[in-house]
Amino acid sequence: MKAIIYQKYGSPDVLKLKEVDKPIPKDDEVLIKVYATTVNRTDSATIRAIPFFARLATGLFKPKKQIPGTEFAGKIEEIGKNVTSIKIGDKVFGFDDQGSESHAQYMTISEYKAITIPKNITYEQAAASTEGAHYAYNFINKINLKSGQKILVNGATGAIGSAAVQLLKYFDADVTAVCNTKNLELVKSLGANKVIDYTKEDFTKEEDKYNYVFDTVGKSSFFKCKHLLLSGGVYISSDLGYMAQNIFLPIITPIIKSMIGNKKTIFPMPTDVRGSVILVKKLIEQGKFKAVIDRKYPLEKIVEAYKYVEKGQKTGNVVITLEHNSKL
Ligand SMILES: NC(=O)c1ccc[n+]([C@@H]2O[C@H](COP(=O)([O-])OP(=O)(O)OC[C@H]3O[C@@H](n4cnc5c(N)ncnc54)[C@H](OP(=O)(O)O)[C@@H]3O)[C@@H](O)[C@H]2O)c1
Repeated sequence: MKAIIYQKYGSPDVLKLKEVDKPIPKDDEVLIKVYATTVNRTDSATIRAIPFFARLATGLFKPKKQIPGTEFAGKIEEIGKNVTSIKIGDKVFGFDDQGSESHAQYMTISEYKAITIPKNITYEQAAASTEGAHYAYNFINKINLKSGQKILVNGATGAIGSAAVQLLKYFDADVTAVCNTKNLELVKSLGANKVIDYTKEDFTKEEDKYNYVFDTVGKSSFFKCKHLLLSGGVYISSDLGYMAQNIFLPIITPIIKSMIGNKKTIFPMPTDVRGSVILVKKLIEQGKFKAVIDRKYPLEKIVEAYKYVEKGQKTGNVVITLEHNSKL
């Protein structure tokens, strides 16, 4: 099969298109013919081994998995002898933050990480629906969000931000979303109650107060945003922050509560990918979630796709299409 291979960490130029053996599923795994995958910020961090301590999982000196890729959508071609929940011919999608090796024509994965695709969406839509939504939901399910609570989402046009706005709308939050001029209408269509154009207005100078500030692109900081928070308010970022401070602030902010008011930072570790994908599937079926797709590239042009993603300016998701006929 054709696959993207990398044998050392580095920039997207380490990625090479090669012919390799098709993988064989273990007893509890399925073999998937990949129709669509994505290049996302998780993939980019993985090939570069950022942050450095990620190497403890991905390989200290060189990558343990030589095929990158995390999100996938495709068709089951073979099943291991213990697989019971999925059958040959099923159309499935999913995300594995530990690497699914989906940047290839075929991949194998545990049956529990492959969820059947909602009806009437394309493989491209399915592949783009999981990573951003998982990280967004990882925040939402760790807070005690109540209907009508106010939340400001910075970076509402990223993979995480565009998913967060839709999920927060589903959970009936009052969403103020920050994005640039060209995407104001898109972000309103995702469900934002109010939009702030960051090219014209600095959201940290807002008069309004919020229960939560979610900086999905890590361009602000707790200290710049704390005056926006109501008492009991929570700041979160999906990024470590300029000095990796978002890891330490969850410990520090409760200690300095008397100085900063009853406000804190949280930095939850992402868990339960399967739960996130099942929720997204339900919302897609109900017409309440649709992945935003920016660009599509063929597998052969994946280096260009990574370079585009690394600019940090994609609108939603970047899809890699492996077959021309990708309609379900
Ligand atoms: N380490 C990991 O494994 C990992 C995994 C996933 C995500 N993350 C982190 O999580 C963050 C978000 O990921 P993502 O995939 O959602 O990002 P993304 O899709 O790359 O975000 C791009 C979007 O952010 C917007 N943006 C850039 N600068 C902005 C600013 N100053 N104010 C408001 N919006 C701005 C861009 O809008 P414009 O068009 O206006 O530029 C663009 O639409 C990233 O920092 C990423 O590093 C880390």
